[in-house]
Amino acid sequence: MVTDSSKSKHLNELNGKDWVKSTKSWFVVNPRPRRKAQKNHPAKFPEELVSRFVQFFTQPDAWVIDPFAGVGSTSVACGQLERNSVGIELMPEFVEIGLEALKATSIGTEHHLIVGDSTKIDSVLAEHFGDDLPVFDFLITSPPYWNMLRKSRGGNETVHKEREAKGLKQYYSDSNLDIGNINSYESYIESVGRVLDGVRPFLSDGAYLAVVAQNMRDVDGIMRPIAWDLARRLSHTYELKQEQIWCQDNKRLGCWGFPTTYVSNVHHHYCLVLQKAKAKT
Ligand SMILES: C[S@@+](CC[C@H](N)C(=O)[O-])C[C@H]1O[C@@H](n2cnc3c(N)ncnc32)[C@H](O)[C@@H]1O
Repeated sequence: MVTDSSKSKHLNELNGKDWVKSTKSWFVVNPRPRRKAQKNHPAKFPEELVSRFVQFFTQPDAWVIDPFAGVGSTSVACGQLERNSVGIELMPEFVEIGLEALKATSIGTEHHLIVGDSTKIDSVLAEHFGDDLPVFDFLITSPPYWNMLRKSRGGNETVHKEREAKGLKQYYSDSNLDIGNINSYESYIESVGRVLDGVRPFLSDGAYLAVVAQNMRDVDGIMRPIAWDLARRLSHTYELKQEQIWCQDNKRLGCWGFPTTYVSNVHHHYCLVLQKAKAKT
């Protein structure tokens, strides 16, 4: 029999069947068409992706944090699932879009979308919450994939060119605080690592993290294995558990490299699952 006290130790509210389904190491989520305002963000992740992880790694009323919040997809998904959230995002215009989207979904839960620099997360949280800072039960985030958005991917009618024609943002910002604008690849990996190191004191013992990233083919044709390098760097601070591969099955195939050079159509992302180790008793 499941007693109330043993239930409170449960990771989530899923039944066995849904638990098993959620542990498959790959899944398909095809992003739905975005609301008009959200289109100005060049790379939001779908709320359905967040829901999958939040439902597995938390119970209702939990607190979830996203240090690269963009237009607040994490908070919107948490609002729909009766979880509370905090998102930190450098660009005020993205936060504004997120706050607008949250109006419809946040009933009964608490959400804080904060304009701030996540490399200084302790002072951002202290300034916003003072002594009322929640303890976070789960982190889900997607950092900029280095400077991927600034690099042309060749071809003719790329998504980038289409966005340019529509007057939509091509990349997040020109700010030197934007992690996507760091020149050296190694410094970029280290900076993302430091942001997530900085969140550690605010996570509960045993809390899980899901960090969404993608490997990148650089303009010189060499792959920058962002997801794999982040997995290695983040495992200095957290226990690396496993990855889940998020596949997108509705992206157009581009004809890159034909007929001389191998260039793949990359339609998957890695969701790195890590855990803050439980304190030893
Ligand atoms: C991949 S996007 C995240 C999108 C988000 N998951 C969503 O669905 O909207 C990465 C975000 O990190 C933000 N960012 C970059 N450097 C930052 C920093 N130092 N502090 C906070 N946010 C930063 C960018 O402005 C961008 O919106």
